[in-house]
Amino acid sequence: MKIIKVGLIGFGTIGEGVAEYLRERSAYLRRKSGVKFELSKIAERDIKKVPSKYKEILTSNAEDLIRDKSIDVVIELIGGIKDARKYILGAFKNKKHVITANKALLAEDGEHLLAKAKESGVAFKFEASVCGGIPIVDSISNSLVANDIHSVLGIINGTSNYILTVMEEQDASMREALKIAQAKGYTESNPILDLKGIDSSHKLAVIVRLAFGFNPDFSKIYREGITSISNLDVKYAKELGYRIKLLVIAKRSSKSLLEVRVHPALLPLDHMLSSVKGVYNALYIKGNLIGEMLFYGKGAGSKPTTSAVISDLVSLSVILEGKGFPSYNYIDTEIERLKDINNIDFRYYIRFMALDNPGVLAKISGVLSNYGISIANVTQKDRAKASSVPIVMMTHKANEKNMRKALSKIERLDVIIKRPVSIRVER
Ligand code: HSE
Repeated sequence: MKIIKVGLIGFGTIGEGVAEYLRERSAYLRRKSGVKFELSKIAERDIKKVPSKYKEILTSNAEDLIRDKSIDVVIELIGGIKDARKYILGAFKNKKHVITANKALLAEDGEHLLAKAKESGVAFKFEASVCGGIPIVDSISNSLVANDIHSVLGIINGTSNYILTVMEEQDASMREALKIAQAKGYTESNPILDLKGIDSSHKLAVIVRLAFGFNPDFSKIYREGITSISNLDVKYAKELGYRIKLLVIAKRSSKSLLEVRVHPALLPLDHMLSSVKGVYNALYIKGNLIGEMLFYGKGAGSKPTTSAVISDLVSLSVILEGKGFPSYNYIDTEIERLKDINNIDFRYYIRFMALDNPGVLAKISGVLSNYGISIANVTQKDRAKASSVPIVMMTHKANEKNMRKALSKIERLDVIIKRPVSIRVER
């Protein structure tokens, strides 16, 4: 079996997540991809922050890693521009494939880096640079390749969205909300990048390149952040039926003109993007074949971003293995069978049509209780007809098999007029 040796530069929040994943889930990835990934070197300047279990593979000098002939793939997760660019170019020169989450660098210098990767005959992958765990890069570049993209609209900075949500839900000031976001590890090391819309613009620049095949000059992207929004604006907007969101927008105005902007905007409360809360991101893409498509998920944080980095790594293994195409034939041998629905517990909505007589509720609840089904609430609606009345119940979690048995017993009660309706509740 082929072993792919991986070098990781940067042991911050994401770096640690990726290292941990490669250490703990290597067998799982091997089963899924048919390739063994080995984390063979970590470069981190501040070696004190790296746990001792990695000490055998730790260096404080990223150049060691780039010069290491055994390493196939370099994962750059230090962020920033200057050093990251130097290491990435160094890796290309040494014929190493590179994976990065560095949206700032891609926005400023993506065209040049992509050209250099091509020149060196190596892959340059960056799924983690846009929207954390949501597979935007791969979807636009591969899955939606047949489309002319007309527009993209979305919320792609988890931190500012989280801050706006906390401001609304806790009536907190921006400063208080920022502190909570920082404590959760959502912010960039310099939170100004999030608050001023710079992070959103970086990601939008990457999206524009992929979606429209156009390299925007980063400095020309119109940008306003959320720093001037107060919780008063958030409250007043809501009273008027709107929610404030930091939006990214790119759309074709004409054949030769593209509108690209980042700024806070009022969205009607019933707009789908209005319900995107906290650290979640969402992006609408409109294409000539697909119509509108919505991506939604966690756009920041160590685990979602690790998911994106690992997806790049596995897709690289297809190149490194010389297979040329993914196999899609992963069988997880630990799974033996499908779970029988009778063994699953659900909460239920149930409706009975019953006679409006004394003791009806007692009869119904008696059967439910015999099957261990606990009622969370019950309402008797107005009479549907002179002879019958709808009784609606919500239950606590109950076993499917017990519920079926209870309902069939209840259906046979003389006070029940029609077959009961039951609908499972999903959260
Ligand atoms: N600070 C970024 C965000 C992290 O909040 O979306 C993920 O890029």
